[in-house]
Amino acid sequence: MKTLVDFEADAARYQAVYGRVCASDVAEFHQAASSLFIISDSNVWSAHGEKFSELGPAMVVPAGEASKSVECWSEIQSWLAESGADRKSAILAVGGGMITDLAGFCAATYMRGIAYSSIAASLMAQVDAALGGKTGIDLPEGKNLVGAFHHPSRVWCDPQLLKTVPEPEFKNGMAEVIKYGFAVDALMLNLLESRRAEIANRDEDALLEITSRCGSLKAQVVREDPKETIGRRAVLNFGHTVGHAIEAESGYQLYSHGEAVCLGMIVEAKVGELAKRTPAGSCARVIETVREWGLPLALRSSMNAERLIERMRRDKKAVAGSIAMSLLGEVGTCRLVPDVPEQIVIEALKVIEA
Ligand code: GLY
Repeated sequence: MKTLVDFEADAARYQAVYGRVCASDVAEFHQAASSLFIISDSNVWSAHGEKFSELGPAMVVPAGEASKSVECWSEIQSWLAESGADRKSAILAVGGGMITDLAGFCAATYMRGIAYSSIAASLMAQVDAALGGKTGIDLPEGKNLVGAFHHPSRVWCDPQLLKTVPEPEFKNGMAEVIKYGFAVDALMLNLLESRRAEIANRDEDALLEITSRCGSLKAQVVREDPKETIGRRAVLNFGHTVGHAIEAESGYQLYSHGEAVCLGMIVEAKVGELAKRTPAGSCARVIETVREWGLPLALRSSMNAERLIERMRRDKKAVAGSIAMSLLGEVGTCRLVPDVPEQIVIEALKVIEA
């Protein structure tokens, strides 16, 4: 069974295909390309490379966020040029969010932009990272600071690929699924409750239901605000203002993105309650859900609140140094608030103290 989700953003129109994918589907889709170049990472390629290697030459980068770098981007651009890639060539990303960001940015910049598609091989990529056209790389100064909106021409989201994903990586993606529940879709929380055992056991049908539902939610938000200019797309950033600050402050070593986002959702729900924008009891519900999925409820070691605040002031959503956060309303609704008082954030950070 396949579920197709339509994405529309500015002039781009494409589909995310939820269901099994094989090499011949990809070859057929890209039959008009002059050549296809694969970008993958060492973990994903050793698990799935055999299935897709016939599609074209592959550049396999080390697994891990460190590969989302200027150096790696530059190496790939040179590889494309030396291999004769032209304007009609296409890139195929095979991997999780790190690879879809990196490969998408390589596609956005090579010869001022060539086509790319993605085989999303992690839960995080299937529900969020591979969808919606945000591509980019990191700088030592911060995550995703260099990037472009460049939409894929297709994204394949095969639940079978999720069976080999290590448990911590799977949980990393669950954090984003939980985010959809609180920020945009209260029914998602019921689904997570009723299909908890099946999802945890990676049952294909249960995975298809949650991933394609997240895909549809994202497609709707992206359609309304493709470039995050009117605040609507920022709802997908619930938990991320604090989460990105925690990740950066710990040098991207101590917490996965999903773990940091869970801590961020707890703090931001508390901020909303203290600012009287979020109904009382919401923070407790976030904590309960995060606990049920075995994700962290507190920092592993203490962090300086002032330094976290300083990082939040420099978040991409911030304007003129005011902290901006996507704060919950009723469960399943969220709004970007551009000027959150710092004192409230400092108070809310106490909820996740080590
Ligand atoms: N990951 C959030 C977004 O795509 O807007």
